[in-house]
Amino acid sequence: MSPLADGGYDVADYRAIDPTFGTIEEAEALIAEAAALGIRTIVDVVPNHISDQHEWFQAALAAEPGSPERERFWFHPGKGEDGSQIPTHWVSSFQGSTWTRTTNADGTPGEWYLHLFTPEQPDVNWNHPDVRREHEDVLRFWFDRGVSGIRIDSAALLIKDPALPEVPADPAPGGHPFTDRDELHDVYRGWRAVADSYEDPRVLVGEIWLPDARRFADYLRPDEMHTAFNFDFMARPWDAKALRESIDTTLEAHALVGAPATWVLSNHDVTRPVTRYGREDSSFAFEAKRFGTPTDLELGTRRARAAALLTAALPGCLYLYQGDELGLPEDEDLPRDAIQDPMHFRSGGVDPGRDGCRVPLPWTADAARGHGFSTPAADGTTAEPWLPLPTWWGRYAVDAEEADPTSMLALYRTTLAARRAEAGLREGGFAWLDLPGTDGDVLAFARGDVACLVNFGVDPAPLPPHTAVLLASGDLPGDTLPTDTAVWIRTRSGA
Ligand code: NOJ
Repeated sequence: MSPLADGGYDVADYRAIDPTFGTIEEAEALIAEAAALGIRTIVDVVPNHISDQHEWFQAALAAEPGSPERERFWFHPGKGEDGSQIPTHWVSSFQGSTWTRTTNADGTPGEWYLHLFTPEQPDVNWNHPDVRREHEDVLRFWFDRGVSGIRIDSAALLIKDPALPEVPADPAPGGHPFTDRDELHDVYRGWRAVADSYEDPRVLVGEIWLPDARRFADYLRPDEMHTAFNFDFMARPWDAKALRESIDTTLEAHALVGAPATWVLSNHDVTRPVTRYGREDSSFAFEAKRFGTPTDLELGTRRARAAALLTAALPGCLYLYQGDELGLPEDEDLPRDAIQDPMHFRSGGVDPGRDGCRVPLPWTADAARGHGFSTPAADGTTAEPWLPLPTWWGRYAVDAEEADPTSMLALYRTTLAARRAEAGLREGGFAWLDLPGTDGDVLAFARGDVACLVNFGVDPAPLPPHTAVLLASGDLPGDTLPTDTAVWIRTRSGA
């Protein structure tokens, strides 16, 4: 249950479903029906912060400074004689300060409280036993309802240095006051014990943004999380050298802890790949998002198709964000009054925010009926989706793409089926292949008897000897691999 100040990442009740979306009984039925179809459900757990409407925070606001109710959070007096200065100059992930001042019962200004995101998302104090106990109980609550795993939101932020120092210019590993602190590993060891207490597998998936691959992999040691989203690869530009380096670093770091690597092209926070890869700067950084950055959607789509084959061929787990399988672009023309993302507002309207990748999926090409997103009522009217769909998105609709063998949907379906069918991709090792004369512009690697090649250069590249072409993201004129195209080939016969 959430007042939706940040798309649901402000939880007021961890054991209830917001009435907008249904009831707990409906959630249980959904989990069970999915399981019967062989689909496992993962729920998002948000442990770093809660909603300011949560009963704990309301009780803390009503209580005195120094009270036990406030100890579950990071309440702190301000600096200066009248306490009017913020306790630290930490910068929020959504820009601006991380502190908001409270008002005492008599109307005078009171203590400040910490929120790494919006003021509606107060951070909880993970040094407090209630916080630890409560979250382990929340995990059990959802595992008992049949979910097979959890995504751990903002997983590297939970623990804070209680001395509240400023952020050093160049923090030593583990030395940042609120990111990647060593004490975090104990929290996840406790969670892993909860997960492992179930007979059927329960998986912990971390949302971890960290530049250091080894520190990242430390969270994936055998008694901690099972996997974590690998954002390093996603944030890299469309460039052979940059992506090769990310693949190497990722595989090396994961091998050290025996965890599977993950490959992620986007999620609900970042610019859609077809838009990103069509830009002059095709890397991703939150702080670089600006209205009006030009893109070439045709180029971006070509590259996103190649990226689909590249990521699906790499060893490890693949995460596919809904809508990417249709090749949806970022909706960069959302009416300003439709935008809901706090990132947009906290940037003073400079950052377009994340709603452009959250627009509902078009199911049918028929725009008049809201692209099939909501079922028409008896009188023919349809409910408005929470964000409007662009009228020109009929071309990306599921029904339109299902009828087109060259669509992104067709490519994803074929790719995922082949990924499952090919023994080399399931169990094969990984080895880079050297392609003479391509100047490092073609990434090529073997997985058993399957090789994946991606051409990042400007010139078409000859295909190495092969017995079959399994799959290609575009045409292969004269058995060559054109720019921004990927192919899977079989390298040995009789396999
Ligand atoms: C990461 C989530 O993916 C994002 O959508 C959210 O705003 C922040 N964590 C805060 O919970």
